[in-house]
This record gives sequence, structure tokens and C-alpha cells, in this order.
Amino acid sequence: MNILVTGACGFIGSNFIRYEKENYNDHFIILDKLTYAGSIENIKDIIDSITFIKGDICDEVLVEDIFKQYDLDIVINFAAETHVDRSIIDPDVFIRTNVYGTGCLLKNCVKYKVKRYHQISTDEVYGDTALDSGYRFKESDPLCPNNPYSATKAGADMLVMSYHNTYGLDTVITRSSNNYGPAQHIEKFIPQMIDRINNDKDILIYGEGNNKRDWLYVIDNCNIIDQIMRKAPCGIYNIAAGQEYTNLDLAYKVLDLMGKDHSYIRHIADRKGHDLRYALDITKINDLGLFPTGDITEGLRKTIAWYKENRSRLEDEKTDDYNEYLRKNYGE
Ligand code: NAD
Ligand code: TYD
Repeated sequence: MNILVTGACGFIGSNFIRYEKENYNDHFIILDKLTYAGSIENIKDIIDSITFIKGDICDEVLVEDIFKQYDLDIVINFAAETHVDRSIIDPDVFIRTNVYGTGCLLKNCVKYKVKRYHQISTDEVYGDTALDSGYRFKESDPLCPNNPYSATKAGADMLVMSYHNTYGLDTVITRSSNNYGPAQHIEKFIPQMIDRINNDKDILIYGEGNNKRDWLYVIDNCNIIDQIMRKAPCGIYNIAAGQEYTNLDLAYKVLDLMGKDHSYIRHIADRKGHDLRYALDITKINDLGLFPTGDITEGLRKTIAWYKENRSRLEDEKTDDYNEYLRKNYGE
């Protein structure tokens, strides 16, 4: 099969493409703009065995050329602007890439009769629940996003559903909880904690740190995405591991694993409109025989070890753009 994977130089996409290369002989075409969040380093070990195209999913001419040139069986879209804090500072690029870019891919899927379109989405499209709620969102729940990032992801999901309904395009949407693991950008919570602890700096916790997230090891997510992409009926699928932690408890866990005491915590101003708790019902994937496993302590150990072996990676991400973002977001 010919499979177009967009955004495969980012965190989840690069783990996914490596997983695919280890398990299948399909022809993979990667389209990635290499924004600040994407790095060719993430796929350097497999670059000779895939087709890599540097480009933007919003570039109508380029995208149509790719669909014309390769007889695509599957398009799977990881490409997105992904950091909530950046979306609060500057939403425009999120609207462009996440909504318009998804539309550009969908249009060509219909025109060139692609067999399946797979949208990588997020639990954030459902909005949040109260901290003490035991509710878990189901795939049939209404979308109720609260920040510009999640609003653009919800917009993309709705476009995908509309292409299925209107043009009969075979589509799947996977909505996963927070991922962690190798090659995540330094701006995200876990790599940022690891970097700050490495440099003997306090971990920065928004507000009280009571917000809850459900953490999924990235390889477990890739395994399930793969099964859904290749075998599941058209539809929407939640993916989570049921490992819910408050941000503060997660920070304590990382400090413990890195041999530091709990005094390395600094509470700072809360994120604007900070979602309280995300939680997903995963009965639908369980019914397909899919059970995300992976213990968070083991996953964090592997993640910390990866960043230790790849320490230059975090240093490389401290660009002028990143320093500018730190100033805007944290006043650092
Ligand atoms: P990331 O920010 O690490 O990587 C995004 C990748 O997309 C980068 O390689 C970047 O260069 C590329 N990209 C950005 N704009 C592009 C454009 N216009 N054209 C082509 N390529 C472009 O993101 P991630 O964390 O790997 O997330 C991947 C997908 O998974 C996203 O759709 C995100 O919404 C979703 N998701 C992420 C998480 C998480 O915890 N990281 C959780 C749920 C869902
Ligand atoms: P993040 O990794 O940005 O993912 P998301 O916002 O998509 O859930 O943040 C995870 C949680 O950690 C979120 O509740 C915000 C919080 N957080 C902090 O407390 N401090 C930080 O410096 C960052 C980046 C995040």
C-alpha cells in the first residue's frame, strides 16, 4: 500500500512511522513542514527507506501533486499545531494548519479516491469535566472545546465527519489522551520537567496543580492507531490508558524517579481557561480487542532514560523562537 503520513517528523508521528517501518513493508510518503516542532532528526534512522517531502499541508499545489503522483491507499494526518499555550498567544496558525490544512487533505482524498482517511485527534475536543467528576467522554458526546487549539481540532473533526457524510469518504478519527515518551518537544509538560530538573531548576506548575490528565505512552498509542487505521470500521475511537494524575502528583513522580526532593516545585499563574480534567471511555476500542497497557512508572523511566541518552535534543530545541515563547508564556 501507499500510505501518506503527514506530520511524521513530530513527536507521535515519528514514533508511529518507526513502528510502521518495523512491522510492515508498505511504501510510506511523509509530508512535513518542519515547523519548530518537527525535526528530521526524529526520522533519520529510517529516512532512506521512506519518501520524505518537506512541505505544508495547506499548500494546495504541492498537496495535489502528491496525490497525483502516488496512488494513495491511506492518508493519516498527524500534522498540526499542537501546543495549547501557543494557541492562547497566537491562534491564527492553528486555524490555518489544523482546519484549512485538514480540508486540503480531505478534498484531495475525495478527488483521488483514497481508500481511507485517518484523522489524529485529541480528547480535548470534548472539553473538560469537574475535577471530582468520574465521567468519561464517549465518542457520541457533543464536542465542547475550550481553547483555540482544541477548537481547531474539533473543527477538523467536524470537517472529517462532513466528508464522510457528504461524499462517502471512508474516515476514521482517533481521539487520544495526553501522550508522553521519546521525542516530545521541550515545551510540553513532561520534557520540560525533565529538562528543568537536569538543569537544577524548579518545575513550573500552573495554578494549584490540581488539573488532571490521563497519560498514555506514545508507543501504546501508535500500536492502537495502527490497528484502527488498518482494520477498524469507519468511525470515531477514543484511546487512553486510564492513568489519571494531577499535575502536581505527576511532577512528584518525575522528581522521585530523577532522585530529587519535592521542594523543586514552583507554582505560577494559571493557564488562561485551563481545562480541569480530561477523561475518556474506551469501551469501543476494548470491544475491538484493543487494550492500551503500559504502566506509567515504567513509561516515565523509559522516557527519562531516552532524554538522558539524547540530551542534545533538548538543547537543540532551545532556539530563539523558544526563548521568545518562554518570555511570552512564563515571563522568563
Ligand atoms: P508535534 O507538535 O510534536 O508535531 C507536529 C508535526 O506536524 C511536526 O513535525 C510539524 O513540523 C508538523 N506540521 C505542523 N504544521 C504543519 C503543516 N502546516 N504542514 C505539514 N506539517 C506540519 O505534535 P504531536 O504531539 O506529535 O501531535 C501529533 C498529532 O496528535 C496532532 O494532530 C495532535 O493534535 C494530536 N494529539 C497529540 C497529543 C499529545 O499528547 N501530544 C494528544 C492527543 C492528540
Ligand atoms: P501540556 O503538556 O501542555 O498538555 P495539555 O495542555 O495538552 O494537556 O500540559 C499538561 C498539563 O500540565 C496541563 O494541565 C498544563 C500543565 N502544565 C504546567 O502546569 N506547567 C507547564 O509548564 C506546562 C507546559 C504544562
